[in-house]
Amino acid sequence: MWTAQLLFSCLLLLLLFVFILLLSGRTRSKREPPLDKGRIPWLGHALEFGKDAAKFLTRMKEKHGDIFTVRVAGRYVTVLLDPHSYDDVLHNSTSLDFSRYAQVLMERIFHLRLPQYNPAAERAAMHKHFHGESLARLNATMYRNLRGLLESDTLPDPTRWKQDGLFNFSYGLLFRAGYLTLFGARHNNKNGPTDIYNAFRTFDGLLTKMARTTLKPEEKREAESVRKRLWSLLSPARPGEGAAPSAWLQGYLKHLEEDGADRDTCTRALLLQLWATQGNVGPAAFWLLGFLLTNPEAMKAVKKEFSDIPVAADVPENLILEKLQCTPVFDSTLSETLRLTAAPFVTREVLTGTTLHMANGQEYDFRQGDRVCLFPFLSPQMDPEIHREPEKFKFDRFLNVDGTEKRDFFKGGRRLKYYTMPWGAGRNACVGRHFAISAIKQFVFLVLSRLDLELCDPESVLPAVNASRYGFGMLQPDGDVLIRYKLRDLL
Ligand code: HEM
Ligand SMILES: *[C@@H]1O[C@H](CO)[C@@H](O)[C@H](O)[C@H]1NC(C)=O
Ligand SMILES: *[C@@H]1O[C@H](CO)[C@@H](O)[C@H](O)[C@H]1NC(C)=O
Ligand SMILES: *[C@@H]1O[C@H](CO)[C@@H](O)[C@H](O)[C@H]1NC(C)=O
Ligand SMILES: *[C@@H]1O[C@H](CO)[C@@H](O)[C@H](O)[C@H]1NC(C)=O
Repeated sequence: MWTAQLLFSCLLLLLLFVFILLLSGRTRSKREPPLDKGRIPWLGHALEFGKDAAKFLTRMKEKHGDIFTVRVAGRYVTVLLDPHSYDDVLHNSTSLDFSRYAQVLMERIFHLRLPQYNPAAERAAMHKHFHGESLARLNATMYRNLRGLLESDTLPDPTRWKQDGLFNFSYGLLFRAGYLTLFGARHNNKNGPTDIYNAFRTFDGLLTKMARTTLKPEEKREAESVRKRLWSLLSPARPGEGAAPSAWLQGYLKHLEEDGADRDTCTRALLLQLWATQGNVGPAAFWLLGFLLTNPEAMKAVKKEFSDIPVAADVPENLILEKLQCTPVFDSTLSETLRLTAAPFVTREVLTGTTLHMANGQEYDFRQGDRVCLFPFLSPQMDPEIHREPEKFKFDRFLNVDGTEKRDFFKGGRRLKYYTMPWGAGRNACVGRHFAISAIKQFVFLVLSRLDLELCDPESVLPAVNASRYGFGMLQPDGDVLIRYKLRDLL
C-alpha cells in the first residue's frame, strides 16, 4: 500500500520534472534573436522584469544588443530596442497584432469581455471626436471645468494657503476636470468626481499587479472591492439623470448596446475608458509642473511665454484658448517631460511567423505565438547617443536656436524618424494626444496665472520614479512632494 503510494508520488514528480523540462526546452534557431530564458523554470525573468523593467532591459541590452528574446512567466517576449527598425513592427498589422494582448489586459484588469471587439472601428470613432470642431468643443469644456474646480477647491477661503502633495494636486484636478468633460455629471452628486478619483487612485495603485497577475490574496480582495465600487459609481446614468456625457461617450455606449452588450458590460467598459482617458494626463502634468518648480530657468521661460495671455475674469475664454495655440517653449518643455517620464511598452502578438528586417541589414525570425515588445523609453528617449545627458531635464531640448521646434536627432549618423515616442506610433498611436496636450497646457497655464503655488520646502527635490510602473504608460513618483497654493488676487 505504502510502496504503491510512494511509487505513485515519484511518478508524479518525474512527470512534473519532464513537463518543466519540456516547457524550458526551447532552443534558439540560427535565424532567431539571442534567447535568454533565465534560470528559473517557466517564470524565467518575470521577477526581475516586474521589479524594474528599465533596469532589467538595460542589462539585457548590454549583454545581447538591440534585439533579444526573454522568457517571462511562460511567454517568450522579443524585445527590440533599435528605433531605426521600429517601423517594421509598427506597420505590420497582418503578422503583428495589437488587439489580442489588449484583450488579455482587458480581462485581467477590467474583467471585461466585449460581445464584439472591433478596435479599428473604435479608434475611428474616437479619432472623429478628438479632432477638429469636436476637439475645439472639448477643449473649451475642459477649460471651464479646470477653472471651475481650481476656484471651488480653494473655497471657503481662496486666499489662504492650502497644502497638498503635488502629485495628488495635479492628478486630482485633471482627473476630475477630464471626468466632467468626457463623462458628464449627475446633478444629485456633487462629490461624485472626487469619490471616483479617490477610488480610482486605489485601483490605479493595484493596476500593474492586476496586469501581471501578481496580486497577493489581500490585494486581490481590495482590487475586487474597489472595482465594484467604481462600477457602482460609474454605472451609466439613465436618461434625465444629470449632465449628459460627451458626444464621444454617448456614441460609444450606443455602439456597445447595438452590439448586444448588457448594462453590466457597459459599466465595465466605462471603467476601461476612464482609465484610458484619465490615467496618464494627471501624472504627466505632475512631472511637468514638478520640473518647472525645480528648474527656475525653465519656469521663467514658460511664464514669459504665457505672460502676454490676458487672464482677467472678463476676458472671453475663446480668446485665451486661441492665444494658447502657439506655445513653442511650453511644447518643448512638455516633450522633454514626456521623454523622461513616458515609458509604455508597445506590445504586439506574433500571429504568423515573420521576418524582421533590421535597419543595419540583419534579419531575424519571429515565432508565432511570441510577443514583440518595443521599449522606446530606453531608446530613443534615454539613449545617450541621441540625447546628450539623457537623464537631465533640459526644457529647450526640442527647440532650435531660432525658437522653432527641433526635429533633427541622429543615431549612427542617420536622422531618426522616432526620437521620442510618448504616444506610441503607427496605426495604434494615441488617439487622444491632442486633447491630452491641450489639457496639460491649460492646467499649467491656469496654475501659473491664477494661483500662487510653491514647494513647501524650497530645497525639496522631485521624488524618484516608482520602478514597478515601467511599461504601463506614464511613470509615477515613489512618494510625493509637498506644495502650498492659494488663489491669486486678480486686480
Ligand atoms: C499624457 C497622456 C497620454 C499618454 C502618454 C498616452 C499614451 C498612449 C500610448 C503610448 C498609446 C499606444 C499604445 C500602443 O501602441 O500599444 C495610447 C493609445 C491610446 N490612447 Fe493615449 N495617452 C495619453 C492620453 C490619452 C487621452 C487623454 C486619451 C483620450 C481622450 C487617450 C486615448 C487613447 C486610446 C483610445 C488609445 C488606443 C488606440 C488604439 O486602440 O489603437 N490617451 N496612448
Ligand atoms: C488629494 O486630492 C483629492 C481630490 O483632489 C482631495 O480630495 C484630497 O483631500 C487630497 N489629499 C490630500 C492628502 O491632500
Ligand atoms: C509603486 O507602485 C506600486 C504598483 O503600482 C504600488 O503598489 C506602490 O504602492 C507604489 N509605491 C509608492 C511609494 O507609491
Ligand atoms: C485646443 O486647445 C489647445 C490649447 O489649450 C490648442 O493648442 C489646440 O490647438 C486646441 N485645439 C482646437 C481644435 O481648438
Ligand atoms: C509583414 O509580414 C509579412 C509576413 O511575414 C511580410 O511579408 C511583410 O513583408 C511584412 N511587412 C513589413 C512592413 O515588415
